[in-house]
Amino acid sequence: MQTHLTIASLRAALDAERDAGKRIAFVPTMGNLHEGHITLMHRAINHGASIVSSIFVNRLQFGPTDDFERYPRTFEADCAKLVEAGVHHLFAPDEQQLYPSPQKFVVEPDPFLQTTLEGEFRPGHFHGVATVVLKLFNIVQPHAALFGKKDYQQFLVLSAMVRELNLRIEVLPGDTVRDPDGLALSSRNGYLSDSERAEAPRLYRLLSALREQILAGNRDFDALQAEAMAELASHGWAPQYVAVRRRSDLQSPSAQEGGLVILAAAFLGKTRLIDNLEV
Ligand code: PAF
Repeated sequence: MQTHLTIASLRAALDAERDAGKRIAFVPTMGNLHEGHITLMHRAINHGASIVSSIFVNRLQFGPTDDFERYPRTFEADCAKLVEAGVHHLFAPDEQQLYPSPQKFVVEPDPFLQTTLEGEFRPGHFHGVATVVLKLFNIVQPHAALFGKKDYQQFLVLSAMVRELNLRIEVLPGDTVRDPDGLALSSRNGYLSDSERAEAPRLYRLLSALREQILAGNRDFDALQAEAMAELASHGWAPQYVAVRRRSDLQSPSAQEGGLVILAAAFLGKTRLIDNLEV
């Protein structure tokens, strides 16, 4: 694996790959890699391309009360995992490379998509995500880019960006990878204490139970959401939302609609966990 710290070095290497007729598949990350990321790398490799990954903890997508400083930085271990996964190029810029001066041109995602659910509780988050991903896309110029569905709303925001800005990039989803007890893998799981880690799979169990109820014909989404929030709260969580939405655009569905996804975010102690399940 070649590691590139500068835009110039990465561009020169990828120009050579393209000249050799290779397709480029790109997996952007903020590091602290786990099986969820590695599954995306494998999916990219199956795509038959030269694989580029990036590690950059993007300050622009963290709010003032978010955990930017605390975000785990595990560069050496991440590099070892990327080498093992068969990644060809790693782009690991510092802030000076990506933001040499304050970013004034920014991407404003769809007003609804960037303010609902995650957007309500993390104002400005998707504007930061979309801005850095568009910059990375312009630097890497991939044929395909892969994003995990664990961050469902992020996947929709970035798919909409690619579609509406006519980028010639195929956006591919990766399924959420879970521990055997159902907890979705996340860089933030490392913040959980032992007792919180034991409690954490409740979120997935709750989403699974909700899905069963919907499949069994219970379409009173408001009541289902309220019950699920109460259930989490009664076990010491501070839920922010449990929401049944349309998969395509995250709007609230009518009682008859199919193609649904249940999304949830809740604090367990100081750690904010999110998860989702398609119905
Ligand atoms: O999902 C992430 O890790 C980040 O939001 C991303 C897409 C790498 C942008 O910083």
